[in-house]
Amino acid sequence: AQFDLAIRGGTIVTASDEFRADIGIRDGRIVSIADRIEGAAREIDATDLLALPGGIDSHVHISQPSGPDVVMADDFASATRAAAAGGNTTILPFALQIKGSSLRACVEAYKKLADGECYIDTSFHLIISDPTAVVLGQELPALVKDGYTSFKVFMTYDDLVLSDKQLLEVFEVARREQALVMVHCEGYDAIRHLTEKLEREGHIAPYFHGTSRPQIVEREATHRAISHAEIVGVPIMIVHVSGREAMEQVRWAQQRGLPVHAETCPQYITLTADDMKGLNMDMSGAKYVCSPPPRDKASQDAIWDGIIGGVFHTFSSDHCPFRYDDPKGKLTPNSRTSFCWVLNGIPGVETRLPIFFSEGVSKGRISLQKFVELTSTNHARIYGLYPRKGSIGVDFDADIVLWDPKLKKTIRQSDLHHGSDYTPWEGFEVTGWPVMTIARGQVVADNGKIVGTKGAGEVISRGRSSLI
Ligand code: URP
Ligand code: ZN
Ligand code: ZN
Ligand code: ZN
Repeated sequence: AQFDLAIRGGTIVTASDEFRADIGIRDGRIVSIADRIEGAAREIDATDLLALPGGIDSHVHISQPSGPDVVMADDFASATRAAAAGGNTTILPFALQIKGSSLRACVEAYKKLADGECYIDTSFHLIISDPTAVVLGQELPALVKDGYTSFKVFMTYDDLVLSDKQLLEVFEVARREQALVMVHCEGYDAIRHLTEKLEREGHIAPYFHGTSRPQIVEREATHRAISHAEIVGVPIMIVHVSGREAMEQVRWAQQRGLPVHAETCPQYITLTADDMKGLNMDMSGAKYVCSPPPRDKASQDAIWDGIIGGVFHTFSSDHCPFRYDDPKGKLTPNSRTSFCWVLNGIPGVETRLPIFFSEGVSKGRISLQKFVELTSTNHARIYGLYPRKGSIGVDFDADIVLWDPKLKKTIRQSDLHHGSDYTPWEGFEVTGWPVMTIARGQVVADNGKIVGTKGAGEVISRGRSSLI
């Protein structure tokens, strides 16, 4: 046959267009887009469905060591299965540098964990926790040349925080090597100060995680990161922006013409700090503990303003899954003595797209094009996967999600494929659902059933960011 697969009768949506056409696929790539495609070995009927570029989730954490006796709820097999069921065809997890270790050795260890395990394509960012002279002068430049063209730095967390001097040094390497830095903006010392004060007052429940890192802490760090980037003259990506205060800093920078970009996540348009109260202040609030923490309704509105107004370039999950009812999960042995021992992070790789589609497109806040831009196209452009991924067009990888815009679903943990034992969105109602996920021409997920093969997804390297 001329084609391995034809997707027929669907409406193709890209970041700029929307039109009815068939899609012809051969050897994992899109080779034809036409009114009518015949002569395919297999045909999929997409009548009444949208054909969207597969979701790219550029912010997920998988198999990251998170403390003694802690295991993340997903390995690369379960995370990529969950991602595929949720309409994604590529994920970008992090390879975390362990302090004192060679960065290269850490990267190789993650590659080994992922190799042969993935259902969809996977590509690593780096996390720089120990910017020694060797890391900055040799390892990082070599890794950028090998296709690790983005790395994350942290302004908080005991094991990860960099000083301002170190941030500036990493930014310099990014500028020289034409890589993109992602910055976690929360001020370490302010959080420690507030945490100690809360603990002294006996405010130790998971809810006070939010109180210990208020918006001002994020605003201050966001401004500091922007200033450092301006000093060095390098583009940056501010990840997981949670509310109005940090969003306004990003907008201020953008209005001054600085190359400052920003990401937000489902938790910041759907959850609030009150979710961390749990039932009668029990420990179940821990299920919502992530950093930055969810804010309030007014902040959700501000995030929407930023999405609609173009402040945000990507919408990612920040999937960072731990099990709740598990001694190696969310609640560590000390977490009843203080919120600061509750592990940070929530699962979301499988629910990101339906939540954003439903809250955004179905509720009339954003267009289909904007949805595609923020969930796929911009991720590919910003992280160097374009024009291989991120759109539907001839020569692109055949990474496609067939989407039913009318299908109503209630999110239930029992239907999900991730390794966590809960979802923060239990009972959340959505309109619009990914009914089939096709990755490099192979059906991976079909109506919630995983039909792909482990190992079909590859660990891929990336080119330079379009922001450079
Ligand atoms: O709470 C979160 N978001 N944990 C994941 C790590 C990070 O900072 O992105
Ligand atoms: Zn972060
Ligand atoms: Zn994260
Ligand atoms: Zn403490």
